[in-house]
Amino acid sequence: IPVSLIGAPTDVGAGARGVSMGPEALRVAGLHPTLEALDCVVQDRGNLVGPPNPWQPASNGYRHLSEVVAWNTAVHDAVYAELGLGRLPILLGGDHCLGIGSISAVARHCREQGKKLRVLWLDAHADFNTSLLTPSGNIHGMPVACLCGHGPDALVNIGGTGPWISPQAVRQIGIRSVDEGEKRFVHEMGLEVFDMRYIDEMGMRHTMELALAMIDSNTHLHVSFDVDFLDPDVAPGVGTTVRGGPTYREAQLCMEMIADCGRMASLDVMELNPALDVRNQTAEVAVDLIASLFGKSTLMRR
Ligand code: ARG
Ligand code: MN
Ligand code: MN
Ligand code: MN
Repeated sequence: IPVSLIGAPTDVGAGARGVSMGPEALRVAGLHPTLEALDCVVQDRGNLVGPPNPWQPASNGYRHLSEVVAWNTAVHDAVYAELGLGRLPILLGGDHCLGIGSISAVARHCREQGKKLRVLWLDAHADFNTSLLTPSGNIHGMPVACLCGHGPDALVNIGGTGPWISPQAVRQIGIRSVDEGEKRFVHEMGLEVFDMRYIDEMGMRHTMELALAMIDSNTHLHVSFDVDFLDPDVAPGVGTTVRGGPTYREAQLCMEMIADCGRMASLDVMELNPALDVRNQTAEVAVDLIASLFGKSTLMRR
């Protein structure tokens, strides 16, 4: 299946500037040739355009809501168009608020094609805040809630009639920072969360076996990879680091098991912040992991 790279150079949903440079850092780290070396047919669609970051305080519990809507509309349209062409879109973020545009497009495609959807949310954070619960107003802390119908109309109903997903479609992995009110809401909505405690006790292998369970040939698997999922020792180039994340090896196994399941049909790579990185190391680690997601392995695969 041919792959399309879509850059979304914005940080309107984040609390620190710089993830707007993420798409270019991933290109500089060799994403395109790396995928081609794995026999993918790749087209780089370049970058989407949208409003600049006005760097304003929150109003009514949201920072930059109209700019976030504009960017997500552009992302939704671009991702939806690629899926319609039978291609696998890779969204290069950009902050994680853009998961709303990306996953709403995937869900719309699945609704029209009668496909089941499974979303793997790889992140240090649950991103399940609402305007009433958020400590920051940053919309990158809210995409999962918005996709499940809890958010402003303009985001919940982006590209059609939301909510686009149910909490039962989501598996969160690597979580280790959830705000107080958010914690209660995650519990109330019954989100399935494999937090770091779970991964410590059960191991990444068992975690991924459960996260990928019940996926069949009619399932579209979407992976939303927030680079802050990784331990900051290996991935310092993010705005919201939380220590105690998966190691390089654990993350590799996670990606390899997703590749082995053979159902990944869309991907987000979000929150990479080159302004906070060390010689592009985080982008290079991300590209290594994406290679594993696309089937790179040491030995011949059976
Ligand atoms: N929970 C915090 C907030 O709502 C941090 C969210 C971080 N999200 C992210 N996509 N990096 O502000
Ligand atoms: Mn399809
Ligand atoms: Mn995060
Ligand atoms: Mn996130």
